[in-house]
Amino acid sequence: MKNIAIIFGGESSEYSVSLHSAASVIKEIDPEKFNVTLIGITTKGEWKLYEGTVEAIDNDTWHTNDNKDVTIKFGQLGGFYVDDEKLTVDVAFPVLHGKNGEDGSIQGVFELAHIPYIGCNIIASAMSLDKEVTHIICEDKGIRMAPYVAINYFDDVNEKMNTINNTLHYPLFVKPSNVGSSYGITKVYNTNDLLPAIEKAFEYDKKLLVEQGIEGFEIGCAVLGNDELIVGEVDHIDTTQDFFDFEGKYNLKNTTIHCPAKINETLKTQAKEKAKVIYRLLQCSGLARVDMFVDQNNDLVFNEINTLPGFTSASRYPTMMKKIGISYKQLIEKLYDLALEKYEK
Ligand SMILES: Nc1ncnc2c1ncn2[C@@H]1O[C@H](COP(=O)(O)OP(=O)(O)O)[C@@H](O)[C@H]1O
Ligand SMILES: [Mg+2]
Repeated sequence: MKNIAIIFGGESSEYSVSLHSAASVIKEIDPEKFNVTLIGITTKGEWKLYEGTVEAIDNDTWHTNDNKDVTIKFGQLGGFYVDDEKLTVDVAFPVLHGKNGEDGSIQGVFELAHIPYIGCNIIASAMSLDKEVTHIICEDKGIRMAPYVAINYFDDVNEKMNTINNTLHYPLFVKPSNVGSSYGITKVYNTNDLLPAIEKAFEYDKKLLVEQGIEGFEIGCAVLGNDELIVGEVDHIDTTQDFFDFEGKYNLKNTTIHCPAKINETLKTQAKEKAKVIYRLLQCSGLARVDMFVDQNNDLVFNEINTLPGFTSASRYPTMMKKIGISYKQLIEKLYDLALEKYEK
């Protein structure tokens, strides 16, 4: 049997997104092959061993059970412990999104505790979640992205707004640098609305990005692998919302996701190649979803990479893999094997 710990929740604005992703993994994982340990992290950051139903994870009542504390011991004999007893875990799967789960923090904990884990390592996670760092790394290698200005909490906002008004064209997107799921993002149509959008984004993060809006539509590429990479079927977001916001993402409000994308084969091949280049540049391993825009000239403009993309069985990443013949169950197995492969290197 393969012993896997599925970690869900987390001290992050994407806590509830994680609950849904994790509930899918737990429902779908093959019980003949996997011995599953569930570790829930509350919104306060407490780690708990959870032995209740999947439904209580999905509807966020799991934390009302009398769950025991999980502690972690570091070093070569490290691992997860409950009441001084070591849990049998070969691989951890942090099914966590955003802050603490996708930014390298938890990956650092696993490294220190010598626990093999699914997904990107510390630096790849950190670079990928920080939208400014992603820009700096990728633009340096000639990957086209939207023109932008970054604003730190210690910057002079008026000075930055002058720069923005002199160098970027409206509409603009104001977004917190280290947050996902479209939280804190505003599409700004004119200069009068810029300051409130900046103030809103600062509620989520100490650094934000103001990007020029790209006209066109969005596509995604699911990349899987450590050394050899597989790219899933490309998908395509068709939305009449102002942009792909939280409602569009999770409730498909005014949004249809086409998989395969309704783009020609040449563009599809270009997108897949570009996705692999970006995955390597950001030193990813395991999995990531690379999101791009197709602009009005049919050119690709890289938007962002998600190292733990939405992971319910209906989410984009698993759907893109299903379309090339990798079922959700098989996907979990492949990720598990990739985690061990990476650990042993
Ligand atoms: N520069 C841009 N041009 C056009 N649309 C954008 C731009 N930046 C963000 N968006 C829209 O906002 C959504 C969320 O932005 P994104 O950068 O992907 O942040 P998140 O990490 O929250 O998903 C995108 O899916 C897209 O619809
Ligand atoms: Mg996004």
